[in-house]
Formats: sequence, structure tokens, C-alpha cells
Amino acid sequence: MSNRLRYGMVGGGPGAFIGDAHRKAINIDNTAHLVAGCFSRTLEKTKEQGALLGISSDRCYANYSEMAQKEASREDGIDFVVVVTPNNTHYEICKAFLEAGIHVACDKPLVTDSRQAEELKAIADEKGLLFMVTYTYVGHVTSKYIRDLISNGEIGTIRTVMAEYPQGWLYNENDDGGKQGAWRCDPSQSGKVNCLGDLGTHVENAVAAMTGLKVKRVLAKMDVVVPGRVLDDNDQILVEYENGATGINWTSQFAIGCDNSLRVRIYGSKGTILWFQERCEEVTLIREDGISQVIRRGNGAISQAAGKYSRLPAGHTEGWLESMANLYDSFAECVSAMKQGTFDSGLIDYPTIEEGIAGLKYVEACLESNEKGNVWVEV
Ligand SMILES: NC(=O)c1ccc[n+]([C@@H]2O[C@H](COP(=O)([O-])OP(=O)(O)OC[C@H]3O[C@@H](n4cnc5c(N)ncnc54)[C@H](O)[C@@H]3O)[C@@H](O)[C@H]2O)c1
Repeated sequence: MSNRLRYGMVGGGPGAFIGDAHRKAINIDNTAHLVAGCFSRTLEKTKEQGALLGISSDRCYANYSEMAQKEASREDGIDFVVVVTPNNTHYEICKAFLEAGIHVACDKPLVTDSRQAEELKAIADEKGLLFMVTYTYVGHVTSKYIRDLISNGEIGTIRTVMAEYPQGWLYNENDDGGKQGAWRCDPSQSGKVNCLGDLGTHVENAVAAMTGLKVKRVLAKMDVVVPGRVLDDNDQILVEYENGATGINWTSQFAIGCDNSLRVRIYGSKGTILWFQERCEEVTLIREDGISQVIRRGNGAISQAAGKYSRLPAGHTEGWLESMANLYDSFAECVSAMKQGTFDSGLIDYPTIEEGIAGLKYVEACLESNEKGNVWVEV
């Protein structure tokens, strides 16, 4: 118990989605315990949530600034904060905690403007603080294994990547998706994009993390399809990577029948890799001779660097919460090492603020491409 880190949360109030998932993910490995929060915009709701979570009322704060200042001045203050509020609030909240000297884990998209993101990075760098952006899907054992397969040359040089992340929950013009949909569809809370920020940044990051490819330029067709919506709900992006490889990234929020269908197909000069998040226990590897192998998490075939994140033997299913937990395992190890003076950047195995910035630059290039009439734009 004494070695466990202490963390606080901003967002994740009553009825919120991802804050609860972060709490559960951190609890899986007990790397940190929640001791403080500003879970909602109102103190009443924060206290309601705090009482449910067993947080003492003096550490339930009326706003994030007060929380950052008071936690920084306590001897038993939080070691890191988790920011899980709507996108337009991330910048000010992250800034307040960084300025108070507290490590940050923030959900994606990092902020709504890459200049703000660069500013956060400058503060984190200057103060020597860690910053994780919780792109959940790169925490899967299987996505880490794909990273190892590709960097070991198993499928040769990558030629093209077909990636998609369709969901169907916002297909109905008479249903804005409740609390979660309302702010995503509202430019004043979501920023200049909806679907591309919500899903497209996951796609960009998953492809980058698995393949190591960097986006050189994009040609974007961003559409607002469901009547009444003002922000994009279907995006088709042609991508060219720095090594000359190409790709297509598709995201949608009205694809009926698609729940959370992030899929990545990577075609190289010596083979192909297929990964479907809804079947995240397996990787399909197809070699030049056409022989197709399905490699399951938990088996000896999985590389040691990826396999160390398995908690259960093969066939004892792990999934989305565990992938989030894996991000926190690495982050907590790094925060602990910082506290003990043993930190080395080689320990980092989670998406950093650089990846958050890359996501925003991708979004901004797509917006520019779309606004200029679907032309190629350098990222
Ligand atoms: N990594 C993922 O897979 C993933 C999945 C879903 C959402 N997200 C991201 O997580 C963030 C939150 O999304 P969500 O779906 O949980 O939204 P949500 O609407 O369910 O929850 C947002 C919470 O933040 C609280 N909040 C808003 N402003 C606040 C403030 N100033 N101070 C304190 N609390 C405040 C709200 O009261 C609410 O409890 C978004 O940035 C979203 O893009 C990431």
C-alpha cells in the first residue's frame, strides 16, 4: 500500500464515460489509488462522486485550479492527475497541474490546437514532468506485438496501410448521443472537429505506434452527413507516409452495426498483418507463401516486450480495460522511478505528449485539406 502512487482526477463525474474506465483500469494492477478529485463542474456533483469513491471531502475540489494548488502544497499530495473532461478544457486543466509541478495523464485528443499542445510540452519539459496521452488501443498486448513484428522486419517494407474506425452510435438525427454525444457534436466544447478528433486521432496513433510510419501529407474529405449536425461525422483521408508508403484512414459515427470497429490492415513487401480491436486477443500474420497464422495473446509466440503486459494465460480473455491498464503500468513505473531518482526515458512505454501533438497536426492538416477543396496538405 505504501508504495502505491496517489492520483487525482479531473472529470469522471456521475454518469461520465471514460473517467470510470480509467479508475477501473488503474485498479486492475493497483499501481495508484485515487485520493482527490474535481469530478464535475459543480462541487455538489464532485462531492457526490467523491463520496461514492471514498474520497475525503476536503480533497473534493470546487475547481481544478484550487485542486492543483492545494494538492501541490500537501506533503501527501497527488503524484499525478488524470484529465478526463471534454476536449476544449484539457489545455487549461493540464497547464494548471503542470505549473503546480504535477505529472499529467490526459485523454485524447490532447487539446484542440497544436500550438497549445506545444506550449504544454514546453512546460512539461522545463519542469521535468511526465505527460501521457491515453490512446487506449496502443496498450493492447497485440498492438505492442505488431510493433515488434514490424520493427523486426517480419513483413518487410510497409507499402500501404488501410485503417478504419467506424462507430454507429450517432446515426440517428433525433438522438444526439446523450451526455457524451452532446459535447462531441458541439464546436464550442469539441473544437473544430468531432469524428476526426474522437476517432481519427486513435487511427493516426494506432498506425504510427504499430508501424513507426510518420504521416507526410494528407488529402481529406470530411463530411457532415446526419441532418442537424454541424461537425464532421464521416472522414475519408488519403495518407502518404514519409517512407513513400500510402494509406487510407476512414472514420464514421453513423455506420450502423459498427460498435467500436477500429481495424488496421498493414501490407508489406514480405507479408501482411491484420488487427481488429474487437478481436484484440489475436493478430493475423500472412506470409509471402500465403500461409496465414493467427497468433493469440498469452501464447509463447508473442514477443517478451509485449507479452509482459499479459495478466492471464491464453484463452482467459483480456480486452479494452486491460489495454488502458497497460498504459498506466508503464506510466506509474515512470512516475515511481522519478520519485526514486531512477528514471530513464527508456522506461517509457506509453503514448507521450509528442504523440498527442502528432494527432493534432494530423487533424489540422486534414481540416486545411478539406477546407481548400480536398487537396494534398503537408503535415
Ligand atoms: N481513450 C479513449 O478511448 C476515449 C474514449 C472516450 C472518451 N475519451 C476522451 O475522454 C474525454 C472525456 O470523454 P467522456 O466520453 O468521458 O465525456 P463525458 O461527458 O462522459 O464526461 C466528461 C466529464 O467531465 C466533467 N467535466 C467537464 N468539465 C469539467 C471541468 N471544468 N472540471 C471538472 N469536471 C468537468 C463532466 O461533468 C463529466 O463528468 C474526452 O476528451 C474524450 O475524447 C477517450
